Amino acid sequence: MKILLVDGTIIGRKTGAILEQVEQYIKEFDANLEISQLHLADFDHQFVDGRPFDQYNDDMKKLVKTLEEADGYILATPIFQGSIPGVLKNTFDFLHPKALRYKPISIVANGGTYQHHLVVENQLKPILDYFRALVTPNYVYTHAGHFDKDNKIIDEDVHERLREMARVFVKYCELSKDLPKETIDQH
Ligand SMILES: Cc1cc2nc3c(=O)[nH]c(=O)nc-3n(C[C@H](O)[C@H](O)[C@H](O)COP(=O)(O)O)c2cc1C
Repeated sequence: MKILLVDGTIIGRKTGAILEQVEQYIKEFDANLEISQLHLADFDHQFVDGRPFDQYNDDMKKLVKTLEEADGYILATPIFQGSIPGVLKNTFDFLHPKALRYKPISIVANGGTYQHHLVVENQLKPILDYFRALVTPNYVYTHAGHFDKDNKIIDEDVHERLREMARVFVKYCELSKDLPKETIDQH
């Protein structure tokens, strides 16, 4: 299975640092998953504005293709203005409603404060539920105090939660593999 570690921001380094750590933990539980990283910062973004898809730039075509071809995701987002970054929402807006269907996803989020962890529950999970993704019950929220000055995660509790999330994610990958993506209900 192709697993994509998605860094959902064009500013900041902590989400990328968390993904590096998650990659190691996933490999502990399943060394056979094909893991790659996708950083939104590497793309020249355009807004979804209703034009035919073939009129977007090559970066947007590559972004959508890479996301749609993956079989599972770890999605990392910073918290911006009590929400997710606009560039991440815009990326979701590009996707076909069936693009993430029954694919496993785990979320990691980083904010400047503790107070915004419910952004994951109240804003990100509903989007992924719309896509009918297999969102793991575990997600990990971090903030600045969990990192050292080089953005290395120094909080042991965060490490344990990331490992547990990786353990459950790998099981969701197995479930997804056995779950046909075609539906009975035609929706
Ligand atoms: C435009 C902007 C808005 C932000 N809004 C919030 C916010 O509402 N709540 C919060 O906890 N952190 C907020 N932050 C802090 C970011 O979540 C935090 O800087 C980022 O996750 C840390 O990444 P970095 O240290 O790698 O830059 C905001 C940061 C920016 C740039």
